Amino acid sequence: MFQMSDIKITIIDREGVAHMVEAPTDMNMNLMEVIRIHELAPEGTIGICGGMAMCASCQCYMLSDHELPEKNFEEEDMLDQAFHVQDNSRLGCQIFITPELEGLELKIAPEST
Ligand code: FES
Repeated sequence: MFQMSDIKITIIDREGVAHMVEAPTDMNMNLMEVIRIHELAPEGTIGICGGMAMCASCQCYMLSDHELPEKNFEEEDMLDQAFHVQDNSRLGCQIFITPELEGLELKIAPEST
């Protein structure tokens, strides 16, 4: 059910299909978890490290120009070692759902294997 604390996010899956989904801002949820809940990437291909910034399976390309939290050291380090990295790459598990992200658009990066 849609609640006032939900925001809308557009997620383009690895096949190029766009999905508009709702995500709660009051559950300390991150983008990787939102993608998993909506089953927008096959189980086992995203969130492998459980959101510890240690696998890069949750890499996404940020398509809208929302102001995002700065990358911490772990995220920078992981993206340095990941495949398919672009200037707009972020680790989905490191971006938490907040009201500021209303209307965010992102694309899930290809699998790295
Ligand atoms: S889930 Fe492993 S780095 Fe994000």
